[in-house]
Amino acid sequence: MKKILFVASEGVPFIKTGGLADVVGSLPKCFDKEAYDVRVILPKYMCMKEEWKNKMKYLTHFYMDLAWRSQYVGILEMEYEGIPFYFIDNEYYFAGPKPYGNIYQDIEKFAFFSKAALSALPVIGFQPDIVHCHDWQTGLIPVFLKDKFHEGEFFRDMKSIITIHNLKFQGIWDMKTVKDITGLPSYYFTPDKLEAYGDANFLKGGIVYADAITTVSNTYAEEIKTPFYGERLDGLMRARSNSLRGIVNGIDYEEYNPETDPLIEKNYNARNFRKEKIKNKRALQKELGLEQDDRKFLIGIVSRLTDQKGFDLIAYMMDELCQQDVQLVVLGTGEERYENMFRHFAWKYQGKVSANIFYSEAMSHKIYASCDAFLMPSLFEPCGLSQLMSLRYGTVPIVRETGGLKDTVQPYNEYESTGTGFSFANYNAHEMLNTVKYAMHVYYNKKREWNKLIDRGMAMDFSWNTSARKYEELYQWLCP
Ligand code: ADP
Ligand code: GLC
Repeated sequence: MKKILFVASEGVPFIKTGGLADVVGSLPKCFDKEAYDVRVILPKYMCMKEEWKNKMKYLTHFYMDLAWRSQYVGILEMEYEGIPFYFIDNEYYFAGPKPYGNIYQDIEKFAFFSKAALSALPVIGFQPDIVHCHDWQTGLIPVFLKDKFHEGEFFRDMKSIITIHNLKFQGIWDMKTVKDITGLPSYYFTPDKLEAYGDANFLKGGIVYADAITTVSNTYAEEIKTPFYGERLDGLMRARSNSLRGIVNGIDYEEYNPETDPLIEKNYNARNFRKEKIKNKRALQKELGLEQDDRKFLIGIVSRLTDQKGFDLIAYMMDELCQQDVQLVVLGTGEERYENMFRHFAWKYQGKVSANIFYSEAMSHKIYASCDAFLMPSLFEPCGLSQLMSLRYGTVPIVRETGGLKDTVQPYNEYESTGTGFSFANYNAHEMLNTVKYAMHVYYNKKREWNKLIDRGMAMDFSWNTSARKYEELYQWLCP
């Protein structure tokens, strides 16, 4: 039995800000139970729902040295869908209304978390063969494993993997402070280790010291070796390319299943969507005050409202887009200028545009189920899960060909009648609009073709089946 430990800053159902949580919450239960004992460590944030906090059981606590300070580390435990989850408790670090706040606080918070997660292992009696880290918040774990922890028997043979979900976020802060809060010696703060461009960089530490590096799609694994997508670490990615591989994300096929989803108006499947899916659209149009019209081409967006997702293209084209025979429903939070942009257009085009500037699991499911198309013109996209959810719900994705979007959405070819969505190559607002217009044309004028696009999309398999096996191969390769 191989023992694997996931360490991450978020995971469903306990806490979520984006796709990372979906992956950390859904992947562990997809490994072969006979061969893998997979457990997960997360922070215990005060902003977690009471429902979850009440179910966690206090295990024990201890005090841990973090540089010159001694800090409380509480450990709570809860089994969820067969997977043991542990939660690191410290009310000083994990207070606040959201998991992430100011970067200078987050730097110390996740230095603490990373060290606490390792320190907790002997206490709970779990000695993983591999520690599987996710994103910059856990980037110090591979470093710690090679440092002090290496001296003890318990940690000596432990391997580490770091999965990059988003290279944009690296956990960068000045070296002096990072030395001070981590207690790591100066030895680590050179350009071949934690230092990057004069600062300390948590993710870089993880990439340098991990035994293997993965990212969440093949195309992104290639892209990050280039300056455009490399976020100033493309040189390092090229240097580590032998240890880097792309494994595309899956989604939880139980949770995202139009046939059983309790959050949507009317359940449907690949056989009856032609008749039943429309009932979801009707209900959503009514709920959101959109013009009630079965025929209208309804485009959905569910997203963090940031530059990454291509919202400047959308902002630029909104007026022109709204001249078309379309409806647009947006669900998201993020940068104020995009929140206000959508509020503005919802006011300007009442009955046509609906701006839902908040976070809601239920509303997201309704949108995936109700819309005809899903728009995701990302500037970059390590994988993207929203387009996978759309495909699962028979909602045709319109995407830019980057990262995981390129790997998971096959562009429609009208001559061969193939493809599962619509896509464009360049980060250009007019290309995006033309692609939307093309999709609209197929929707309005070639309904049978449109439905066949949905048939093919719903027939795709983006469950974890294939990708979980790829992680298993990697684990096997690291620990034969
Ligand atoms: P990223 O991780 O970059 O934000 P992904 O496409 O990988 O993008 O994952 C986004 C996840 O967050 C999806 O599960 C999506 O449904 C969800 N999501 C994003 N914004 C919201 C929101 N406002 N309300 C509910 N769910 C949201
Ligand atoms: C990040 C990426 C997104 C990816 C998710 C899960 O948030 O932005 O593309 O799907 O992580 O891996």
